[in-house]
Parts: sequence; structure tokens; C-alpha cells
Amino acid sequence: MNTHTGRTVEFPQFSGIRCLMMPYIQGDSASIPDIYAPYRDIVDLVFLKKGDIGFLTIDESVAVAGTPHRGQRAKYGRALHTEVGRVPGQIYCWGGGGGWGVPRPSLGPRPKPKPKPRHRVTLDRDVRILLANNLDDSCAVWDAEHEDTSLDGDIGHAAADYPFDRASFLKAGEVHEIGILTPHESLPVQQDFNRQFLRIVSSGVHGREEYFTLNPLVSFN
Ligand SMILES: [Fe+2]
Repeated sequence: MNTHTGRTVEFPQFSGIRCLMMPYIQGDSASIPDIYAPYRDIVDLVFLKKGDIGFLTIDESVAVAGTPHRGQRAKYGRALHTEVGRVPGQIYCWGGGGGWGVPRPSLGPRPKPKPKPRHRVTLDRDVRILLANNLDDSCAVWDAEHEDTSLDGDIGHAAADYPFDRASFLKAGEVHEIGILTPHESLPVQQDFNRQFLRIVSSGVHGREEYFTLNPLVSFN
């Protein structure tokens, strides 16, 4: 099975729009605020389950040449990760190490993991994720589940299990569907690029982190 859904989107003109894990109603562009209007067509057409609550991330930012998009997060040579962290009995949104696009000064030292991180957000195991971006080959995905992921989702230590010759490389606009434990990796870009990234997370997310974007049109906690 391939992760490509067969669906393709056309990204709007780059304008630096961002939101992170903003709750909205899947398939219903009336449920997103006007500042995200350039994404209305995409929101209406791309969903996991129309009418369900979903969590929208739009990240339009400059990807700097030679730097994997989430390079500051990686402990290893490859920015291979799963979208969530895990301890036995709990799958959670990792908010402490720069995952999920947590704003943090890129030049600052990586904070030491706290011994007992608080996880405000837990996820059901069957949560699904749609991913797309506007740059060919800037993200690799393996059609697999890495059940034994780490506390912060970084699985660079297992890179040998995920060689590039078994990866799918996302082409611009392709919508891929992955699970929360699907290995994927941001790849270095050749030159500075106005990168547009779209992520839709299905229902099955419980709680919210402070850094999630609030949506005045949809209440969710
Ligand atoms: Fe990711």
C-alpha cells in the first residue's frame, strides 16, 4: 500500500500563514477563520472524515538551504520521526522538544527533556494524518508503523530500518495519509524556499496544548 491518497492540492500564493493544530470541522471551510481563506478550497476538498472534528496545521515559512525543516529537533543525522511520542499505555502529542512545530528560537540550545513531562494531549492509536507540501522530495515517508517510538517521536536511532530506497518521496501537492506512528523524515532543501505545509489530523485527539491555535468558530478543549 502506498501512502499517497491519489489526491493532489494546489497551494495558494505564499503569504506566511500559519496555524498549528487548530480545531475545525473537516470538509467545512466555514469553520475556519477568514485569515485562512486562501485555504478554503483545500479545506473543503481534503479531509479524513467530513463533518468530524479535525486539527489543521498550515505552516508557510522559509525553509533554509541545507537544513532539514525540523533539523533543530533531530538528535541524529536524519530527521526521522513519528508524529507522536509514546510511553507504555500512553500516546501523546510531544510539546517539549520542538515537535508539532512548537515555536522555539532556532538558535537556542535544545532543552533537556524533563524527567516527567506533562502530556496535556493524548491521542487514540487510530488517529490518521493527511500531509502535503509544495516542494518535491522534501519529505520521505515509509509505509510502516514504528510502534516502539521514542518519548519525543524521534527515531533517528532506527534509521537503518528505513533506507531511502524503500521510501516514498512526496511530490508537490500530493496528499499522503499516514498514521501517528508512521516513520517520515524532512529532507534538506537545495536552496531557500517558501515552503507550504499542510497537515490535517483526524478526531481522536484529547486535550489541548497552549501552543495550539485557537479557533473562535469551533470550541474544543
Ligand atoms: Fe512530522
